[in-house]
Amino acid sequence: MHRGKGMKFVGDSRVPAMDHRKPNIPKDYSEYPGKTEAFWPNFLLKEWMVGAVFLIGFLCLTIAHEPPLEKIADPSDTAYIPLPDWYFLFLYQLLKYTYASGPYNAVGAFIIPGLAFGALLLAPFLDRGPERRPSKRPLATGFMLLAVAATVFLTWQSVATHDWEAAANQGKIVAEVDIDTNAEGYKLLEANTCTSCHGAELAGGGPNPALIDTGLTPEEIADIAKHGTGNMPPGMFKGTDEELKVLAEFISGLTSK
Ligand code: HEC
Repeated sequence: MHRGKGMKFVGDSRVPAMDHRKPNIPKDYSEYPGKTEAFWPNFLLKEWMVGAVFLIGFLCLTIAHEPPLEKIADPSDTAYIPLPDWYFLFLYQLLKYTYASGPYNAVGAFIIPGLAFGALLLAPFLDRGPERRPSKRPLATGFMLLAVAATVFLTWQSVATHDWEAAANQGKIVAEVDIDTNAEGYKLLEANTCTSCHGAELAGGGPNPALIDTGLTPEEIADIAKHGTGNMPPGMFKGTDEELKVLAEFISGLTSK
């Protein structure tokens, strides 16, 4: 039995196989006696060995570099801004532009990506010329360069405009602390609406930091509660000095150790 007999190996999918032989079409496999090998088990064994090398390589990488995990997903945290992996950032960025978002969401989500990927899929049928040099295929080359440039630009825009500091904050793993919700300090936090930003568990969320393990003294916390800090507005605390002291000592005592 001749392996591969009668099979035509065509180097370029756009060139239909023809009966009269062209110089760039390789010879039939049966013309290389003794140079073929059995698919099973010879060829498959080699494939599996290469696969195993990559698998072990990836396993070593995952052990050497711990995955950048964030805290457990919280569906009630509406301030959380999710970010796709880097290879989807260009599609993510597209959805931020006026005519690709809001009422025009379908444009950014379906029409533009659909046209681009549809054209890529149909490229072998649309561009049927036998020419292989990029310079002789201006339309195909031009659209490809445009697509690559757009992808690079959108990815870069997305990285440049993302609020990485807030992202690091919102996903920070905060040690679980059993908070005594019956304590007077906690009731004061609720009464002064501190929990509306810092969360009922005081674990923060979105741009708001956790109030656990702040490392701040009661005096510093009292000052922040009255005068604010950074993005926290001043005048949040509206009780008496006595209550402020209780509240500040309560937060100061919230440690995970
Ligand atoms: C409108 C939302 C909001 C409210 C309400 C709010 N905070 Fe804040 N708080 C923030 C934000 C945002 C920050 C981070 C400020 C920054 O560093 O830019 C912050 C920071 C803090 C910090 C410092 C945390 C640290 O680790 O540095 C403390 C302490 C604090 N808040 C206490 C309180 C208390 C007490 C109350 C209630 C009296 C309160 N906050 C109410 C938004 C809020």
